[in-house]
Amino acid sequence: MVGHKILEDEALDILFREARTYRAWQKRDVTEVLIKAVYDLAKLGPTAANCSPARFVFIQSAEAKARLQPHLDKGNVDKTMAAPLTAIIAYDTQFYELMPELYPQAPKARDWYAGKPATIEDTAFRSSSLQGAYLMLAARALGLDCGPMSGFNKEGINKEFFADGRYQVNFLCNIGYGDNTGMPVRGPRLSFDQACQVL
Ligand SMILES: Cc1cc2nc3c(=O)[nH]c(=O)nc-3n(C[C@H](O)[C@H](O)[C@H](O)COP(=O)(O)O)c2cc1C
Repeated sequence: MVGHKILEDEALDILFREARTYRAWQKRDVTEVLIKAVYDLAKLGPTAANCSPARFVFIQSAEAKARLQPHLDKGNVDKTMAAPLTAIIAYDTQFYELMPELYPQAPKARDWYAGKPATIEDTAFRSSSLQGAYLMLAARALGLDCGPMSGFNKEGINKEFFADGRYQVNFLCNIGYGDNTGMPVRGPRLSFDQACQVL
């Protein structure tokens, strides 16, 4: 059996130890090639039955930013307007329609969800949250920084960007090259003993 490869220290620093949540941004654009490369890594993370419910809207133009602005909490406006890119991480409430393509090994997979709103919501929210996290780690892996946000008006964003109601926003994430001027010290994390049990 071939041994599993593991990451070098430098990669762990980039993904975790030195990575921070950014609220200020350098004036440096994120190219479309890079956005696609981030997605092409993030899409490989696991989801329930490979259902891949996340849908990503990358807000880059001034026009699209202006549509986003009124729906942000006050404290998130300046940082979001300054970011080169803001991802809306949403989920498709009809994700199960693609199950035949995404999970062909189970021909009845569509029926696990269709017509079951609570299961749809639970599955779509859980797996799209994971996909949002994969997106952040993929962005960090490719040299970008992230600033995730839940401070926004959900109904406002849904109405503005997803008027037909099929997609629902999960969270927002500013993406770009961070400016760490004035970065606060990192908040503490729970110790293993506080947060974990091994049974
Ligand atoms: C789901 C989520 C929602 C968040 N919402 C906001 C927000 O609305 N505004 C904000 O300034 N920071 C927000 N944050 C940033 C967190 O406060 C930050 O990631 C956390 O304190 C860890 O900071 P660090 O990455 O610098 O260690 C959010 C983070 C996550 C993951």
